[in-house]
Parts: sequence; C-alpha cells; structure tokens
Amino acid sequence: MPRAPLDLEGEPRFAWRGVMLDVARRFRPLPDLLRFVDLLAAHGLNVLQLHLTDDQGWRFEVRAYPRLTEVGGRRSASQLGHGPASTLDGVPHEGSYSQAELRELVAYAAARGIRVVPEVDVPGHAKAILAAYPEFGVGEVDDVRARNVEPWTRYGINDEVLNVEQATLDFVRTVFDELCEVFDSDVVGFGGDEVRKQRWAADARTQELMAERGLATEEELQAWFLAQVAGHLASRGRRVIGWDEMLEGADAVASALPADAVVASWRGPVGAELGARLGHDVVLCPDLWTYLDYRQSDAAEEPIPVGTVLSLEDAASFDPLPADASAALRERVVGVQANVWTEHLDTRDRLDYAVFPRLGAFAEVAWNGGPLDWAAFEQRLPAYIAWLGEQGVDYRPLGGPRADQQRPGVPGAPRDRASRIAELAELTASLPSASA
Ligand code: ACM
Repeated sequence: MPRAPLDLEGEPRFAWRGVMLDVARRFRPLPDLLRFVDLLAAHGLNVLQLHLTDDQGWRFEVRAYPRLTEVGGRRSASQLGHGPASTLDGVPHEGSYSQAELRELVAYAAARGIRVVPEVDVPGHAKAILAAYPEFGVGEVDDVRARNVEPWTRYGINDEVLNVEQATLDFVRTVFDELCEVFDSDVVGFGGDEVRKQRWAADARTQELMAERGLATEEELQAWFLAQVAGHLASRGRRVIGWDEMLEGADAVASALPADAVVASWRGPVGAELGARLGHDVVLCPDLWTYLDYRQSDAAEEPIPVGTVLSLEDAASFDPLPADASAALRERVVGVQANVWTEHLDTRDRLDYAVFPRLGAFAEVAWNGGPLDWAAFEQRLPAYIAWLGEQGVDYRPLGGPRADQQRPGVPGAPRDRASRIAELAELTASLPSASA
C-alpha cells in the first residue's frame, strides 16, 4: 500500500506512534487485521496494541486453557445501542485467533515496521475468563458460574474480577507465558483498567489473603496483583504497559511495580504526570482526543453516538504536551496512541467509519507533534480523502454519514465535554498524586 499523502516527512517526533484495536468486543478475522496493519504503516504508525481479552470475549488461543476460546470466545448476543434504551441483538458473536495466525500477524506487521503489542486485561474485565473457568472468580465457584454463564452480552464496567489466590496467579502467568511465545514485542499489555473493588472488599477469603500479604486496601491489592504479573513478565525479559489505573495504590507498593513499566494515560493528564514523576515511560492517549469510537459530530445522523464529540478538527487539535506539562512528563513521554474500542463497530465498514479520516490527523500529530495547523491540514485533506477512497476505505465523509452509514433507531449515549471532564477528575482523584 502506498504511503498516505500526509505530512510525514523527516524524523518522527514520537517513537511510539500507536493504535489500539479492541478485537475482544468485536472479533475481526485475520485478513482484516493484516489490512489494518497496511493502513497503519501507510500512516507512519509503528505500534498496534491488540486488546485480545475483555468481558465480552477472549480471542487468544491458550493451549493450557482451551476453554478460554471455546467458551470465552463466544456470546449468544450483543448489546444493540448504548444507554438505558439499548437492547440485545440476538445474534451470536464468536471468534478467536490461533497462535499460528497471530504469529503470521506479528511477522506481517514487523515486515512493515509495526510492532504488535498484545494485551491481556487483568484483573478486571474478567467475565469471559470466568465463563470459561469460574474457579478464578471471587466467591463460591457455583455462584461465580451462575453469574457468568457466558461472556458478557452487555457493555459497560462490570464488577467481576479475578480472585487473588496463588492458583489464579499461576493461571495468569501461564497465559502470559504463552503470549510471550507468540509475540516478540518487548512490551506486553496487562490491562489494569476499571477494576471494581467491591467483590474483593466483601469477600472474607480475599481479605484474609490481603492481611497475609500486608495489604491494607483493595487499591494496594490491585497494585500488588499487577506487580506480580509485571515481575513475572520481567523474568521473561518483557516490560508491561498498563492503563493509568495501574498507579492506584502505587504509594504503598511503589517499589513493587518495575520502573520500566509503561503507563498508558487515558483519563486526562493526572496519570501521565504521576507516572512520569514515579519514573515511568508514558504513552499519551487521552480519551477526549484519541478515542476513535467517540462520536464525530453532534448531528442526529451520527451512528450510535457515544462519548464526547471528537470531530476531525478536534483530533487535529490534540496537543500531547501542552504548555503546562511538567518537565518530568516532557522527559518521559515516549509517544501517543489512538484507541479504537469496538462495542458499536460490528463490521469492517463501521470500523473504517470510526477510524478514518481521523487517523490521518492523529498520524500527523504522532509524527510532527501537535496541535496541527488546521488550515494547512485542510489543504491536504482532499488528496488524503481521495487516497482513502482508492484504498477501499469506507471512511466518514467530511459532510457526515451517508444514509447507509447511519443507524437510525439504535440509541446512543452521547456525553458532553464538561461532564466528562468532571468525571475524569473524580475518577483520577484516587491516584496518589491527586491526594498528595
Ligand atoms: C479504557 O478505556 N478502559 C482504557
């Protein structure tokens, strides 16, 4: 595939120019991933983070635990739309990648200058695991099984988490061992996001294990758990990347997390600043500018609108290191990443619609720094849009979705920017820096 006609000249500003693709919510067959890699390479990007597991599906073949894909890779239906008016579509969804397929992906991507960073999300987002192996959940096995008869057919944040028994950590280590056999990336994703703590807090056995390990809070338990995984990966010569929640409880167990752990900062600048202050490398992926599942306009025609408005112009306005960024952060930022969550992107065309042309603006920010000069970018747009068409990309037209790109009648859950910013402040208040 030829290079996209964008401003991608000279030396790139950022070493890590990434895109995360969620193949857990929506499985995409291997040929679609190879095409996606071609498109990333054409945009001068060099990291594909593959989000392989989540509540709604497990996509990575694990030889030691075949039920992860056999049971965890299939759900009977998917949520249709978002918010209180959403329904279920009644359509089974399934799929997983063999290790051979993923090796093919890694080699294909490497030949195009792209590193595939695999991500297995623990200890939350665990419903697909628990459907397959309820013994790794919190509470009586029969209760866990009853709560997790299949991967989640709904979207949102669930309170199911892994338990913290040694046997569960052994399971997690085995999964990451197999992951390391398939993926040669020195950085491996371990998730750490959106871990609800209620089940750990209410469970006598979890509290007993916390006391034995000298852990005072569930935040410390999460940090301890993640540090165990990171330590194991370190023994295999790998570094971890995790979402900024991984820094919760980091004061008490700061020494536990390896210094070379990379923080993916998605909830505003708080986690990025804290991670840098603690000496971690940081990848910036703030949702307001880089979440390509967020709606592209305020128009009623926008299909299944979720998140805040993130127009093409907004994507171009991404300033990874604004004037108030600390010196520590400037030193520690290794790159930027756009994240593509796929709850509502159920076809390849829907994926194209969400990603393009916003990825063009993101790619220029990743290459040159941001924000972009909008007037200059606008001059390049016609050629870029024509190029997308030539590659067969079903991009969103600048004027809005075509009729066949709309989803009339399917409810969304749009957010406004002010309320999201307030929510981010609340969510990150539990990070140590916010209270320091
Ligand atoms: C995330 O958006 N849950 C990292």
